[in-house]
Amino acid sequence: MVDNIAVIAGATGAAASRLVELLAETPGWRVVGLCRRPPGTPRANVRYLAADLADAASCRRAVDEAGAVTHLVYAARAAFAEGGVEDVPANVAMLRNLLDACDRPGLRHVHLLEGTKWYGLHLGPFATPAREDDPRHMPPNFYYDQQDLLTERRTGKGWSWSASRPNLIVDFAPGRARNLVSTLGAWAAICRELGVPLDFPGRAGAYTALTELTDARLLARAIRWMLTDPRAADRAFNVTNGDPFRWSRLWPRLAAYFGLPCGQVRPLRLAAWMADKEAVWRRVSARHGLVPRRLSEVAPWDFADFALGFDYDVISSTTRAREAGFHDVLDTEAMLLGHLDAYREARLLP
Ligand SMILES: NC(=O)c1ccc[n+]([C@@H]2O[C@H](COP(=O)([O-])OP(=O)(O)OC[C@H]3O[C@@H](n4cnc5c(N)ncnc54)[C@H](OP(=O)(O)O)[C@@H]3O)[C@@H](O)[C@H]2O)c1
Repeated sequence: MVDNIAVIAGATGAAASRLVELLAETPGWRVVGLCRRPPGTPRANVRYLAADLADAASCRRAVDEAGAVTHLVYAARAAFAEGGVEDVPANVAMLRNLLDACDRPGLRHVHLLEGTKWYGLHLGPFATPAREDDPRHMPPNFYYDQQDLLTERRTGKGWSWSASRPNLIVDFAPGRARNLVSTLGAWAAICRELGVPLDFPGRAGAYTALTELTDARLLARAIRWMLTDPRAADRAFNVTNGDPFRWSRLWPRLAAYFGLPCGQVRPLRLAAWMADKEAVWRRVSARHGLVPRRLSEVAPWDFADFALGFDYDVISSTTRAREAGFHDVLDTEAMLLGHLDAYREARLLP
């Protein structure tokens, strides 16, 4: 029997696609996934509907089709440039359009995806471990406006809200370029092809700072918990693997995994430095019989510049979630190597 119908906006994205899978296989749940370009392949218990969140009428049509929505997960975002100032009015309008359509009797919970940018991760060093109630940074930050919209709209309503704040999300996600795993794998493959050691191409301070990642499946489990546990109601939670690491410790392991000597820190602006490497990647692909894909589809170098550029600690406290009842943790090193294995098995990386 289906008790819950979850509308998940941004259903094909990094933050939500594992949640779609997880809820679809959780007894009592049905999922309606919204995005502009729904996937063609069907999935049991999931209905993908095309909707443009920037268009209020499109949101209403999709929600009418979804049926009696009990839970809303908002994991979409307006187009943005890596490291730039994100568009607050566009992001808030998208959430508002969908909330207007879903805010009916029967709605029980609304979950909002936020992230470590809440703490100003993209601006420079911030107080660590970051706690959910830390002071906000100077706006703009679309998460602030979105969460304020939710808390305002929730007053006097029968639904509660929650928010998750993951750090960089990692996954085996072949169709999604913006992924640290495939980017690191492509970097290593090109180092090997060119006969150079595995240098760390980020900032020197990023090699030694403490940092952390969020596995997409762990995030999905955390969100499922927030959707239903009363202890999570009307609160935001940091969600990470829970084991901060330093690249300086992990890098030799990665070098060994790729069969390369561990190199040195060599800060490069990868977006510029790797621009001429398509031909090298074609050679790598041919030599290893990889599924043919352009290097730019495997490794978005501007994203790598962003992800390996934090020359300060990036740590969020997960105490609040643990105290409230979510205890999952994950070994980040094993997670990264496991995802790399999956890319190899799919013949997407050598
Ligand atoms: N990725 C990370 O590492 C990360 C880390 C921390 C926090 N977050 C946060 O998580 C949230 C989701 O980010 P993400 O990385 O999952 O994004 P993403 O991978 O770029 O996916 C965005 C999703 O939203 C959909 N979408 C975009 N514009 C839409 C529109 N106008 N109408 C309907 N659907 C639309 C996209 O599908 P279509 O293009 O088909 O519409 C896609 O399903 C954001 O708030 C982000 O800041 C992400």
